Amino acid sequence: MKRYHVTTFGCQMNEHDSERLKGMLESLGYAESQDRETADVILFNTCSIREAADNRFVAHLGVARRVKRERPDVVVGVGGCWAQSVKEDVFRQFPFVDVAFGPGQVHKLAEFLTSDSITAQGFFEFEGFTGRLPMHRAREHQAWMQISVGCNLRCSYCIVPSTRGREVSRPLEELIVEAQRLAADGVREVTLLGQNVNSYGRDLRPERRAFSELLTAIDAVPGIDRIRYTSPHPKDMREDVVRAHAELPALCEHIHLPLQSGSSRILKAMRRTYDRERFLDRVALIREHVPDCALTTDIIVGFPGESDRDFAQTLEVVEEVGFDGAFTFVFSPRRGTEAAGITDGVVAHETKVERMERLVEAVQRRAAERAQRFVGRTLDVLVEGPSRTDPSRLRGRTRHNKVVNFAGLARPGEIVPVQITTATSQTLAGDLPLVARAAV
Ligand code: 5AD
Ligand code: SF4
Repeated sequence: MKRYHVTTFGCQMNEHDSERLKGMLESLGYAESQDRETADVILFNTCSIREAADNRFVAHLGVARRVKRERPDVVVGVGGCWAQSVKEDVFRQFPFVDVAFGPGQVHKLAEFLTSDSITAQGFFEFEGFTGRLPMHRAREHQAWMQISVGCNLRCSYCIVPSTRGREVSRPLEELIVEAQRLAADGVREVTLLGQNVNSYGRDLRPERRAFSELLTAIDAVPGIDRIRYTSPHPKDMREDVVRAHAELPALCEHIHLPLQSGSSRILKAMRRTYDRERFLDRVALIREHVPDCALTTDIIVGFPGESDRDFAQTLEVVEEVGFDGAFTFVFSPRRGTEAAGITDGVVAHETKVERMERLVEAVQRRAAERAQRFVGRTLDVLVEGPSRTDPSRLRGRTRHNKVVNFAGLARPGEIVPVQITTATSQTLAGDLPLVARAAV
């Protein structure tokens, strides 16, 4: 039996795409290999959101080059956003690569592997959803659902619109059927994925659909106990979606709402189409309808032109909102993006580093403070398996998307009540109450 090995970089959409890639290979009769040394097909699903992602991948590719030198029959393939961003140049930069494909052409890999082709080939059209391919899930009880691909916005720092194309939504009926199949297969939690999930459905014909309609329809699927989504855009965070969090039993009390900057001037330069007030207004709307909702965000520091005053405004928003967590990034110029061409006001490296340190301190301090509200409460936890730090304990997630390490007996996929005893900025710790423990 032939074997494959896939290395995945980047975001959750890439993790999803890799699960489909694996499912497709298994339907062709390949089995997964634990290492590259024993694989017949070595694949990389790449990311190019920041420069660091590019560099990490290039280091890994060196290993594939060595394997290929020892076993020339091995097929080396490069997919994902980085491949899409350089296209045919993949083969010039790395002549040992046999096949390259963008995120919209994962299915072409199957064609390549089943053909007699001996020449290197690249596939870079935008067509098809990877979400329609067979799936090999990493977790039995949790699944990704790709609800749309692409992005029609033009945030000036972001390479994604050029690597994933225009936005296309999958039909609502198709997604309901997928959710039903997943539930029948033991899935209890789904995460809806899109570059801009809450603009879902506007391109559908003959009937436009709203993201809140999709949420309502999936909530109604028996067996799906938890729904998450990522990432929404603040400009499309309307009241119907916020209300859905209060009204739909399965929709979790967590929203990842990317801020990017707390300065309206910088948001404008980023072409985010909202300002600081609008963002704060969205937060107020969320807190009004779902007071206990966890809020996480993405923030970029060092965007060209960001002054001390602009950065201070970002810190102010972080203090004011009190996010439950944040991913923080140093601005990284990406080829072909508008921001990469801005030469005025480039922020010095030391300034970026210093701002990042101050931002991380504020984010973590506020997240730790916010997490204290869970101490003493009993929260539903979806069990994932043994704790990573202490295998005698279990690990799972609350509806707020907080990781909980706890003592007790429970099986992966169970939703159990856990009494929270301590909280840090990142994780919670607790115990199964005795009554619940007696029941399992
Ligand atoms: N530089 C730094 N961070 C970026 N992101 C996207 N593009 C860039 C870039 N060029 C961040 C944004 C986005 C997250 C997924 O990655 O914060 O929300
Ligand atoms: Fe990039 Fe903006 Fe689209 Fe997000 S919404 S993928 S940041 S262009």
